[in-house]
Amino acid sequence: KRLVVLVSGSGTNLQALLNAIATQGRTVYGAEIVAVGADRDGIEGLARAERAGLPTFVCRVKDYATRDEWDSALTEATAAYEPDLVVSAGFMKIVGKEFLARFGGRFVNTHPALLPSFPGAHGVRDALAYGVKVTGCTVHFVDDGVDTGPIIAQGVVEVRDEDYEDEGAALHERIKDVERRLLVDVVGRLARHGYRIEGRKVVIP
Ligand code: GRF
Repeated sequence: KRLVVLVSGSGTNLQALLNAIATQGRTVYGAEIVAVGADRDGIEGLARAERAGLPTFVCRVKDYATRDEWDSALTEATAAYEPDLVVSAGFMKIVGKEFLARFGGRFVNTHPALLPSFPGAHGVRDALAYGVKVTGCTVHFVDDGVDTGPIIAQGVVEVRDEDYEDEGAALHERIKDVERRLLVDVVGRLARHGYRIEGRKVVIP
């Protein structure tokens, strides 16, 4: 299966996927990353892709007159690589109608909270502010809402008293440890076994 991965930041989830494919091999893992896209330049995620010898593309919202034009550009740039599956690994933009029309049902996102709790761009901070005792991460299919698509897998992370001292930085790192393992496992299973989405259920035979 051909994967395109979308990033906006450090790209450690991307790196986890790259490492899994490098150690297991494309056929065993069931997938290969064919390109990496981003919404901004100069991020470590793109540097990781370049170090792995992968093609990259950048679609910046400010380069387009309208959000829809950005959405179209992102769709075309992604479609050029003919992906079977698109993975948002820390991609911090909400895609539009055209992207979902093209890739809906084969577009996966990872979120650093236990959805449906704490969707959006500040899941770790919001969970901490709420005072939860456990939080975690969710890998889900992207639908036309924000972090509302069918859930594929979740991982739980305990919140510690000291997490309130650094605005959740250490907590997010602990979540990312679980998240990277979860994403690698889920993407590999989706790629190897295929899947069906039945309402809110995801069936991986
Ligand atoms: C991940 O925790 C992701 O869920 C969140 O941002 C983080 C991205 O980390 N949206 P990285 O860029 O993969 O290191």
